[in-house]
Amino acid sequence: MTNLTIRRLDEALKHRLRLRAAQNGRSMEKEVRCLLAAGLSEDGPGPMLGPVAKPASPAGAAAAQAGALAGRRVLLIIGGGIAAYKGLDLIRRVRERGAEMRVILTYGAQQFVTPLAAGALAGERAYTDLFDQTTEFDVGHIRLARDTDLVAVAPATANLMAKMAAGLADDLASTVLLATDKPVLIAPAMNPQMWAHPATRRNLARLTADGVRVIGPNAGEMAERGEAGVGRMAEPGEIAGALERLLGAGMPHPLKGQRMIVTSGPTHEPIDPVRYIANRSSGKQGHAIAEAAARAGADVTLVSGPVAIADPPGVRVIKVESARAMLAAVEAALPADVGVFAAAVADWRVAEAGEQKIKKGTGSAPQLALVENPDILATVARHPTKRPRLVIGFAAETEHVIAHARAKLAAKGCDWILANDVSPRTGVMGGDANSVHLVSEGGVESWPRQPKAAVAQSLVERIAQALGPRQ
Ligand code: CTP
Repeated sequence: MTNLTIRRLDEALKHRLRLRAAQNGRSMEKEVRCLLAAGLSEDGPGPMLGPVAKPASPAGAAAAQAGALAGRRVLLIIGGGIAAYKGLDLIRRVRERGAEMRVILTYGAQQFVTPLAAGALAGERAYTDLFDQTTEFDVGHIRLARDTDLVAVAPATANLMAKMAAGLADDLASTVLLATDKPVLIAPAMNPQMWAHPATRRNLARLTADGVRVIGPNAGEMAERGEAGVGRMAEPGEIAGALERLLGAGMPHPLKGQRMIVTSGPTHEPIDPVRYIANRSSGKQGHAIAEAAARAGADVTLVSGPVAIADPPGVRVIKVESARAMLAAVEAALPADVGVFAAAVADWRVAEAGEQKIKKGTGSAPQLALVENPDILATVARHPTKRPRLVIGFAAETEHVIAHARAKLAAKGCDWILANDVSPRTGVMGGDANSVHLVSEGGVESWPRQPKAAVAQSLVERIAQALGPRQ
């Protein structure tokens, strides 16, 4: 029946239905069914096929913040799709916000726009070739990758995304993307079928897990006649807005000049070469704190146990496994102005981890002798020469949260404890939200339950207040 209805619609209505369906990620038939189910059919085709809502624009309609990116450097990689022409507009948008720009054009991009146009808009010649002697002599691909605050890829074609996900480096753009240690933002643009293809979904999941930020694509008409769906590149203004947010533009940098060490995640303590003692920590809270501190201008070293989440952008990450390795990495990162110890460090390790896999069938279960691990927080808080000005610990509790936190504050010699209830019913361990109590000598402050990123932001603000302006 829906087929019949759709076929009978005039072309203009059909077109609007197609856009609406694409925007909601449904087939046209399903979109009609949803509208009918919602009871909108009684209002006739007017509201049912009313104007397609403009896609939510994170940048909003806010006017370009002149100078919002002043002093920042953006490397733009323009991929080979028809949306490359919008890449030229993006150069203008970013430059009018005051950023310095460098532009790389892939071979495909040069079929749509010229290096001359990109270079003229960027105020510096555009780069195209990995094996260009002049380019390598003047700048070199490694410096292109590093001498920037952020790498933006717009449009990010399906091919470029696949190369990034696979770690290929067979041209200047992909080599720079592999060599960069800076945050990367991609603005995908492709045909809706390509966007929906399982291979692209896989690549997208891989890239986001690697910490790549994504804006768009939006729903709309495609360059191909009669095609519509999700796949249009986000508008240059939207991308420029995302760049501002990622670079913390216009935000104060209250921790500028401060060195901070953050521990995060669980530790793994070996039992034998294949088994270990661990806990349920995801690292989400510690990583969020490191990210928020870096956004606030701090020079952050994150010492992370084994986690399945991406490294936060703009942070030096040191990956460790055991408590002892975590302590060694933290001590090596001292001195620092602030230490935040969010890791769920295993309290015990096996006294003598087996060199070979422990076998069963010996008639009795192995008796594992445990010894206590060093307390990283207490070691740093009591450091004779390199104690940070502010030492902050966490308390993971399942009962008597405040009382235990107060005891830990005294026992470990730190300045603040963020106490949280990690009982399974709270969903804190591994979840995205947290409710913490800030316990200090001055008293207890209970914060509302909020996303871990918001907890991190509040903590960073409190740290900035406590430290005051850098002398
Ligand atoms: N901590 C640490 N090194 C350890 C154990 C804990 O640095 N070996 C830190 C944690 O990172 C956290 C604080 O100490 O900031 C409290 O950790 P928690 O697991 O809540 O308490 P424990 O000290 O391990 O005590 P208990 O397990 O008895 O609650």
